[in-house]
Amino acid sequence: MAGNKTLTMIKPGAVKNKHIGAIIDRIEQAGFRIVAIKSTKLSKGAAEEFYQEHKGKPFFNDLVSFMSSGPIVAAVLYKDNAVEDFRKLIGSTDPENAEPGTIRKDFAESKERNAVHGSDSDESAERECHFFFSTMEYLEVLK
Ligand code: RTP
Ligand code: MG
Repeated sequence: MAGNKTLTMIKPGAVKNKHIGAIIDRIEQAGFRIVAIKSTKLSKGAAEEFYQEHKGKPFFNDLVSFMSSGPIVAAVLYKDNAVEDFRKLIGSTDPENAEPGTIRKDFAESKERNAVHGSDSDESAERECHFFFSTMEYLEVLK
């Protein structure tokens, strides 16, 4: 059965362009509950750890530099079928290929500066939620 939790980050480009409010509005209007949220900044080491699955790929160093270049907003989102539904809401990695009305289509600057992150599986969601938050921080909100 599909899980009900996913992790998003509003990436440094979208924060710099003042899109936090608009993106959070899209997320809430799409039926996701924001159960934990924080503004923070990733160190290079933290960005490397978060995106560890991409280590060794040609875009890894640029990804790590970009993700540690400024503040981000991280949030735990709840909804039935959260991972898949959120990937639909954000659209393709490259905004050129993203469907109209998706967050990346409307707020991404490029494939590299693509506005938001979304977990790609329930296993990733579990790891990524714990990267930023303790279970304690959102369990009370769910009650
Ligand atoms: P994300 O993890 O940030 O939600 O993005 P994603 O699943 O749609 O894409 P993924 O394959 O996980 O790649 C992570 C991020 O790396 C950058 N990227 N650049 N130049 C390239 O070919 C390339 N490929 C990936 C993107 O910023 C992507 O979001
Ligand atoms: Mg990914």
